[in-house]
Amino acid sequence: MAQRVRKAVLPVAGLGTRFLPATKAMAKEMLTVVDRPLIQYAVEECLAAGIEEFVFVTGRNKGAIEDHFDHAYELETTLAQRGNKRVELKQAEQATIKPGNAIFTRQQKPLGLGHAVWCARHWIGREPFAVLLPDELMVSSPTCTAQLVAAHEKTGGNVVAVMNVPREQTKSYGIVAIKTEKDGLAEMTGIVEKPKPDEAPSTLAWIGRSILMPEVFDHLDRHEVGAGGEIQLTEAMAKLIGTQPFHAMRYTGGRYDCGNRLGFLEANVAVALGRKDTASETRALLERLLKG
Ligand code: G1P
Repeated sequence: MAQRVRKAVLPVAGLGTRFLPATKAMAKEMLTVVDRPLIQYAVEECLAAGIEEFVFVTGRNKGAIEDHFDHAYELETTLAQRGNKRVELKQAEQATIKPGNAIFTRQQKPLGLGHAVWCARHWIGREPFAVLLPDELMVSSPTCTAQLVAAHEKTGGNVVAVMNVPREQTKSYGIVAIKTEKDGLAEMTGIVEKPKPDEAPSTLAWIGRSILMPEVFDHLDRHEVGAGGEIQLTEAMAKLIGTQPFHAMRYTGGRYDCGNRLGFLEANVAVALGRKDTASETRALLERLLKG
């Protein structure tokens, strides 16, 4: 039986240069989609998948993330005293992580995503774990991570979420090679970091969600520098293929790449249109704006 996935690694050390000047003094993961920061969506996605322990791999200027998931004593006390602020109080309380369930560790040098995940190794130990890149916002029920956990329970090994991208975009992603696919799950034969369109083994891109086995750390331990001069997570994944079960899961839900401005804007509109409390007002607002 597959070991239960209890822990998630959230790499949040990136500088967010595509969002300057917004990210000059603020973590890009604190950028807000409708009413909550991006990082909260990733944490909620994990909680919905039964994952309750988090390792945040941070950098300088990321202190707000730690504060966000703490109790905000002054705020919550004030809201509680006001009596008519129950909804707001609940919203503030909801954005906390259980005591002792979050670790914040720094990636001291920007050596790549593989290195960032490696920084979490002592807190993960020898058990399967989820990796979520919070720039990518996923909207689906069950959540993308819950679907991966279910696939891991079936296959007992590594599972990464993939989606088809236009061929000219393969150079922005880890691209997988697969063999026979059944019910949206395919055995993987390879993964290549950011291949040129004419060299890509497929157009199936890893979209920043995965369940990985702890053996990935054995490869990351070697600190091998790969594509783009960085220590790549996908290249450590590639080394596991053939040594243990490794599958790609085709994800069909909503995906918004909040690492760029347009994707972030789209996420805001899509989430607002998808939520009962904001849908009709957002639709009316868009219609009004589009009429000009
Ligand atoms: C990273 C990974 C890449 C993956 C992508 C998903 O790239 O290296 O394999 O496909 O995230 O968003 P980045 O976007 O950090 O350059």
